[in-house]
Amino acid sequence: MLENRKILVGVTGSIAAYKAAVLIRMLVKEKAEVKVIMTPLAKAFITPLTLATLSKNPVLVDFYNAENGDWNNHVDLGMWADAYVIAPATANTMAKMAHGIADNLLLTAYLSARCPVFVAPAMDLDMLAHPATRHNIDVLKQFGNLILEPETGELASGLTGKGRMEEPEKIVEALKKHFSRKKKIPSRLKGKNILVTAGPTCEPIDPVRFISNHSSGRMGYALADALASQGARVILISGPTSENIADPGITLVPVQTADEMYTECRTRYPHMDGAILVAAVADYKPKYRAQEKIKRSMQNLTLELEPNRDIAAALGSMKKKNQFLAGFALETEHAVKNAREKMKRKNFDFIVLNSLQDKGTGFGTDTNKITLLDKHNRKMEFPLKTKQEVAEDILQYLQTII
Ligand code: CTP
Repeated sequence: MLENRKILVGVTGSIAAYKAAVLIRMLVKEKAEVKVIMTPLAKAFITPLTLATLSKNPVLVDFYNAENGDWNNHVDLGMWADAYVIAPATANTMAKMAHGIADNLLLTAYLSARCPVFVAPAMDLDMLAHPATRHNIDVLKQFGNLILEPETGELASGLTGKGRMEEPEKIVEALKKHFSRKKKIPSRLKGKNILVTAGPTCEPIDPVRFISNHSSGRMGYALADALASQGARVILISGPTSENIADPGITLVPVQTADEMYTECRTRYPHMDGAILVAAVADYKPKYRAQEKIKRSMQNLTLELEPNRDIAAALGSMKKKNQFLAGFALETEHAVKNAREKMKRKNFDFIVLNSLQDKGTGFGTDTNKITLLDKHNRKMEFPLKTKQEVAEDILQYLQTII
């Protein structure tokens, strides 16, 4: 799978730099062509000689060779690579990547890279948990970089927690998965701009409390992933979930409330070829949001709720002839009839009806059983499948109408 793939490995100054040696060795064994860039500090952790020997290529550290004036062209490196793996990635390097700082060769190559970028953070647990680092990781995810989340275990600091760099085997696996998916192209979805909503929305009651639902976001993320693997450019507008995006073709737009999701969807939909609305949008929000935490009292508390706007219906009324719009439905009675009405009301081209009857379906599960209904009165029933397989089925249908 990795044979003849050009993999650029970026190594930063972390104690986990020794794992880069294992990673490079494994990549070369898989017959990938490997070039290595190190930050100046990384040299304190592992020698360029080791990595040059393992990668079978000179290791690059500086912008130019002081001896002979040779220029190490980061643009060429960025264009050369089929994938750029930054492992280990320190908090410092990720902060610079998130802000476009380009003060070493590894970072300039990052800014120039046209290929997918895989980032394997490694640091102490408190550094990783710091809001600044979490924010930077979220920014990198929004750029479409793939974050290989650190593992939990013993850390160089002597503490135990999350922060250990992902094992080289797992990084190689992620690369293989990426390259195997790319093989599925050509698809009619290649190059299409598609908006996907996913996850729940959170409607604040006061600064610490909110109303939400059990949506895990898995179905929406699986769809976004499947779309991107077929070459679509995906804007994923998502409420809070613990899902990770798994493809650089996905741009994540995180939101909290239905109002934020509404605004993002309305401004972005006109530039899209279509949208699939998977989010479990809260139907109601508290009418008043308390500025301070509501104190406990022995009195009953009544929350006044007001309806949220219907994002689907808003997009349905904006839909142009060359765009499609689709959504999901979960119905407890007269499922098909209600779903068809919903499709009409929201001006969907098709609607995916989730079963409530079967075991293994619904919120928080890895599987789903769907019936796809379209505006031409077609009804397609599918057996219980994983959410990834369900996503593939939906895209197979989508290809016939796009
Ligand atoms: N939807 C949306 N915005 C909302 C509510 C729903 O975009 N405010 C979308 C969902 O993402 C889904 C579809 O509309 O694709 C149907 O959602 P559902 O909750 O079943 O629809 P409702 O209009 O809320 O109908 P119900 O009365 O059954 O709750």
